[in-house]
Amino acid sequence: MAQSSEIGHPQTGDVAVDDLSADQAVAELAWLAEQLGAANTDYHRDDAPKISDATYDFLKRRNTAIEKRFPKQKRSDSPSDVVGGAISEGFGKIQHVVRMLSLGNAFDDDDVHEFDQRIRKYLGLEVDAPLTFTAEPKIDGLSLSLRYENGQLVQAATRGDGATGENVTANARTIADIPQMIAGAPEVLEVRGEVYMSHADFAALNARQTEAGGKTFSNPRNAAAGSLRQLDAEITKARPLKFFAYAWGDLSAPLADTQSGAIDRLNELGFSTNPLTQNCDGPKAMIAHYRKIEAQRAELGYDIDGVVYKVDDLALQRRLGFRSTTPRWAIAHKFPAELAWTVMEAIDIQVGRTGALSPVARLRPVTVGGVVVSNATLHNEDYIAGRDGNGDPIREGRDLRVGDWVQVYRAGDVIPKIKDVDLSRRPDNTVAFAMPKICPECGSDAIREAGDAVRRCSGGIICPAQAVEKLKHFVSRAAFDIEGLGAKQVEQFYADGWIATPADIFTLRARFGEGLQQLKNREGWGEKSAANLFDAIDEKREIGLARVIFSLGIRHVGENSAALLANHYTSWAAFEDAMTTAQVADGAAWEELNSIDGVGAVMATSLVTTFHQEAERASIDRLVAQLQIQDAEARATDSPVAGKTVVFTGTLERMTRAEAKARAESLGAKVSGSVSAKTDILVAGPGAGSKAKKAADLGIETMDEDTWLAMIGDA
Ligand code: IVH
Repeated sequence: MAQSSEIGHPQTGDVAVDDLSADQAVAELAWLAEQLGAANTDYHRDDAPKISDATYDFLKRRNTAIEKRFPKQKRSDSPSDVVGGAISEGFGKIQHVVRMLSLGNAFDDDDVHEFDQRIRKYLGLEVDAPLTFTAEPKIDGLSLSLRYENGQLVQAATRGDGATGENVTANARTIADIPQMIAGAPEVLEVRGEVYMSHADFAALNARQTEAGGKTFSNPRNAAAGSLRQLDAEITKARPLKFFAYAWGDLSAPLADTQSGAIDRLNELGFSTNPLTQNCDGPKAMIAHYRKIEAQRAELGYDIDGVVYKVDDLALQRRLGFRSTTPRWAIAHKFPAELAWTVMEAIDIQVGRTGALSPVARLRPVTVGGVVVSNATLHNEDYIAGRDGNGDPIREGRDLRVGDWVQVYRAGDVIPKIKDVDLSRRPDNTVAFAMPKICPECGSDAIREAGDAVRRCSGGIICPAQAVEKLKHFVSRAAFDIEGLGAKQVEQFYADGWIATPADIFTLRARFGEGLQQLKNREGWGEKSAANLFDAIDEKREIGLARVIFSLGIRHVGENSAALLANHYTSWAAFEDAMTTAQVADGAAWEELNSIDGVGAVMATSLVTTFHQEAERASIDRLVAQLQIQDAEARATDSPVAGKTVVFTGTLERMTRAEAKARAESLGAKVSGSVSAKTDILVAGPGAGSKAKKAADLGIETMDEDTWLAMIGDA
């Protein structure tokens, strides 16, 4: 496999094009073709770029410059001639007015029933109260947001990371399903939906590409993505893309009172909407519609990967609201994953940033649902032995051994998994797998604690694997996301002894001085690239609280949880103070931490223990000293309750406790479980007892539910 690169050619990358010899040019052009070819595959085929856009552009420009000076050395497979090879150099960024979210998943009928029950519970509805859902195919394409102002299409943006997408307006204008102008629409209308390519168009496109000696696509989704994200809109125009509308973003006036009404309205305005969309009066009808769509799947002529259910009543959708990245009112019921059989050639052990020893299956490469798979996760030793977390058999107790034929599947975009093993094809002389008892990376004892399915290296920060993984996590996209400092550079810098903990990244420039001699002499680094790197690092000294919390790589604290913590504590000082003061399962700070919606005892314990570990604490302090951490913005600063601490007590009659809490938090309030001097408002329903008394003693503003609702504008 070609190496990924964030920098120029190891020997000549730093030499000016004018100073290159013809031999050097030939060698570098070959290297560039390989690098750019691999980058194109990662980006276009796998949708998983390993180098930054800026590096890609840099390599591409270098390639063009060398070709210009040595035209005779231009390769027949020159990257300059590859169609669809450009990474979004020219796409501007567009901030979405309303975030583009993803959907939670249901994998079986039980999950669908649970979805219905969760919603009823949240809204306080009886089991048999009427509740209508829409059910429609989940289109396997890429989502697009179209903005119309006074009926004119003014902007089209990809989803991007949900908050910011790419400006693909010129490209969207070439899609026949997307009207340029609409009559009778609200002044501002953002229509959201999926861009996709039909099976027939996909096959014809690949045939044309093959004939022209161009690149072919592995599936319609990648073809649609590769076609939409073309810098040259003429190319998009030549590609047969389609669009289904299924949602909306910013609106100056509501489209309807119901989801189905809004979809009808979009249809009337001239958008294609999916004809298999139907209203269902509960989980039974939803599942029946799912089966109906599943039966038609092969004949639809375009790829779908499940069925999406949405609460029909938009007032209820509004009450249900969102978790951090998914709506409570919708879910995607996925079709079963595609399966394939192959041989497991080895089991490797990887040591993660929390020390977990993770077994990974190395597979004979096999295509599963259009993607070549050569690794699969094996979770832990019990899983390999054929037992689940409770000790109950999985795969009817069949274990997995090197040499076995295994059945692989992909669930969504996640790493492939193993579903089953065929014992009739097991070769002779295989042996049961035994998990190593010492860490393969540092030789420390690998310990499995009671109640933990995972064996962990006890080496902590002395374990190079843990240290490197922590650093990789630290620079990852959702954490510090430092341009030019990816996983590969982190490994190199760690191996060279330049960085051992995150804080070291921020002292690199000072330690190496402006002369940059050491970095400059290092293979592949030039003066300019090193200076660029230090600038990129400096750019990240000022950073948001949620990113900092996530970047620490604390076990159980993912991106969403970090955001919840940041929104709750709002400043680093308050967060740090709380984590330092809190004792596991004891005291007010612990209570407060556990009262945050989405924070459970496991995460809370992990946070508090981390802040009480000396080495970890020292590493965090050294990092923080290098940063200016921006406070988390209170989510709705213009609401009358933003920044206030609210306690609910007694019986709430107009909403459930969960809804009250989520609603208050969405308006920027903090919800606490107990009354203290810090409490601003007590909302007391009938039956309120000791909390109301305490609030009265402390002189805290107390109100009933109706007053509260009137205050937040929900009466
Ligand atoms: S609704 C707030 N409806 O699936 C929810 N999404 O996994 C907005 N998708 O990002 C999404 N078909 O790109 C919705 N009928 C459908 C869909 C659909 C495909 C995609 C969409 C979304 C992703 C979430």
